[in-house]
Amino acid sequence: MVRKYPNIMFVNVDALTYAGNLHNLSAIEEASNYRFEHVDITDSEAVNRVFETYSPDTVVHFAAESHVDRSITEPTAFVHTNVLGTLVLLQAAKNTWAERKTVGLFHHVSTDEVFGSLGKTGVFTNASPYAPRSPYAASKASADHVVRSFGTTYGFPYIITNTSNNYGPFQFPEKLIPLVLNNARLKKPIPIYGKGENVRDWLFVEDHCEALEKVLFNGKVGSTYLIGGSNELSNIDLVTSLLDLFDDEMGNENGSSRALITYVEDRAGHDFRYAIDSSLTEAELGWNPKHSINDGLLQTVRWYIENQEWLENVLTDAYQSYYSKQYGSQE
Ligand code: TYD
Repeated sequence: MVRKYPNIMFVNVDALTYAGNLHNLSAIEEASNYRFEHVDITDSEAVNRVFETYSPDTVVHFAAESHVDRSITEPTAFVHTNVLGTLVLLQAAKNTWAERKTVGLFHHVSTDEVFGSLGKTGVFTNASPYAPRSPYAASKASADHVVRSFGTTYGFPYIITNTSNNYGPFQFPEKLIPLVLNNARLKKPIPIYGKGENVRDWLFVEDHCEALEKVLFNGKVGSTYLIGGSNELSNIDLVTSLLDLFDDEMGNENGSSRALITYVEDRAGHDFRYAIDSSLTEAELGWNPKHSINDGLLQTVRWYIENQEWLENVLTDAYQSYYSKQYGSQE
């Protein structure tokens, strides 16, 4: 979007915690319509300074602690950043727009995990009740509630999007797909929780970004849009397809990486299935995901093979210590 909209100034606010990486944005760092602010969204003084400096008319709020396994072992950071951080941003935006006597837009990017866990059938819709089950999901659900409460109480202009599992380039290797590709590359065991039967609805990251762009320009204030990939796969089916593509691209013997799959203890409170009905979003905004799962996975596999230096750079001591804490016994 920085390249596509040269007349819009983009200010990127990020705390650069463990998963933040400025190298991901090196292609735009010199753009004249782009600024970076190294700020933690829970720091209200710093956030207010950013709002005073740039007086933005739109806020797209993606900043969150997002990994479920980390929320199980360390829930505090999740409530702190995802709930308090959202409140700080809401207040800064509300005050800025009140002072300027303008109506802005606050787009809160959320997750389908706020709706809890599905059984073998059914899908999440706009009518699904909130039923979060992990500390991560509970913190995002809380943030959604706070955003809506600003709409009801102050007439604050917001839109919420709830999206399914993203995948693609630049994803930190704590999430399933990059973790599998990194371990396959290093010929390390590939941990599958429980029996690998849990189902996720996979959305290629660029399809998500395209949906967010449509929401931003054409979405109705006060609305919630559900965004999914319509690509439901069990974890074991996803991982075997991914490894087969990896072997193919690497010229390895067919199916050889499958031998790395190792079933490990299940995640506590592991949500069985997520599936999103995006039909309202598709009808209203004329959006649909363009990448089939095979096409998206192939692009992802190629990116991780071509960008092993990127991977090496994020495999810090902190990552290794997270990894051995999380997966210790099968190392
Ligand atoms: P993840 O990428 O953590 O996303 P989320 O939990 O938000 O859906 O996990 C996707 C699925 O893969 C989920 O069902 C948990 C499972 N999983 C494993 O089986 N092994 C792993 O090492 C990881 C990280 C996830």
